[in-house]
Amino acid sequence: MTRHFGKPIRIPTPSDFVQNLRGAENRLPTARGAITTSCMKQYLKTTIQSVEEVAPGYSLLSFICDTPLQGTPGQFVMIRGNWGANPVLPRAFSIVQSGSVGQVLVRDVGPGTYLLCNMHVGDELYVLGPLGNGFIPPEGEAAVLVAGGVGVAPLVFLAELLAETGVPITFLYGARTQYDLPLRERIEKVAKLVITTEDGSVGHKGLVTEPLVDMVKDSRTRVYSCGPNPMLEAVGKVAMAAGVECQVALESPMACGMGTCKGCAVVKPDGTFTYVCTDGPVFVAANIYGGEK
Ligand SMILES: Cc1cc2nc3c(=O)[nH]c(=O)nc-3n(C[C@H](O)[C@H](O)[C@H](O)COP(=O)(O)OP(=O)(O)OC[C@H]3O[C@@H](n4cnc5c(N)ncnc54)[C@H](O)[C@@H]3O)c2cc1C
Ligand code: FES
Repeated sequence: MTRHFGKPIRIPTPSDFVQNLRGAENRLPTARGAITTSCMKQYLKTTIQSVEEVAPGYSLLSFICDTPLQGTPGQFVMIRGNWGANPVLPRAFSIVQSGSVGQVLVRDVGPGTYLLCNMHVGDELYVLGPLGNGFIPPEGEAAVLVAGGVGVAPLVFLAELLAETGVPITFLYGARTQYDLPLRERIEKVAKLVITTEDGSVGHKGLVTEPLVDMVKDSRTRVYSCGPNPMLEAVGKVAMAAGVECQVALESPMACGMGTCKGCAVVKPDGTFTYVCTDGPVFVAANIYGGEK
């Protein structure tokens, strides 16, 4: 038991995660971390414990939280370092690990991610979260996790929790080359890993959707996906065509991460807007791409 601003809290275990989220499908896409609604909308100061380059251009940041980070897989944090005004806005990252040591995986693509990848042990890191909702775990079904690129981050967290509860997991991991497979070793420990690369340097040559077609033939399967938006749409369509439920974690440009700036809007099939930071980032694919499930 940990004290949390005067109130006792308990860090959720994997079985809490499964028990509390089961049956919560009707709350998607607006369930906001069913067991972890303790976001205080204020940045917490944490301390960098390690910055590990886990593949070229990808760093795993571990940070020590005095108040344990309580996110579930799919939820995210907004983070920034103590680097002054440039860039001024925080950046969004999926949670890879929660607890007293939090983790995010950062791909160096621009100024904010460059600074994060080059932080040092002992540096201050400001963290807001957990934000958004999380994946709803399977109920009797097997789980097929489909990751593209840095979309692997929330799915590693999901695979590690589901593995502790005995859910059979197939992890389909798509990348451009053999050098774009961060956290591969962690996945191999908990799931059956199937790799696809666009250049064929490792695994099947081609796109993740190709092996996925065979994996969704059994209707007692649930698909979870995170990655580039075109990949998510293709994955969602394969699952929907097979009559299998698919949950996707979307990314969209974010300034605030908490419903204020409206910069993260996506348009639903009925023409209305939904906001990735507060209504997602996890959505049932059919609610975003149209279709039956
Ligand atoms: C909910 C959520 C979870 C995320 N999780 C991760 C994660 O686990 N690991 C990770 O490395 N990144 C993640 N991202 C993306 C990350 O926030 C951006 O890469 C980051 O903000 C880029 O900041 P920058 O200053 O380095 O580059 P910028 O100069 O801000 O952007 C560099 C390039 O990336 C593009 N870009 C910026 N943000 C996004 C975005 N959200 N989606 C697609 N393209 C974008 C820009 O258009 C530009 O081309 C996530 C984003 C969201 C919304
Ligand atoms: S990021 Fe500001 S409203 Fe979603």
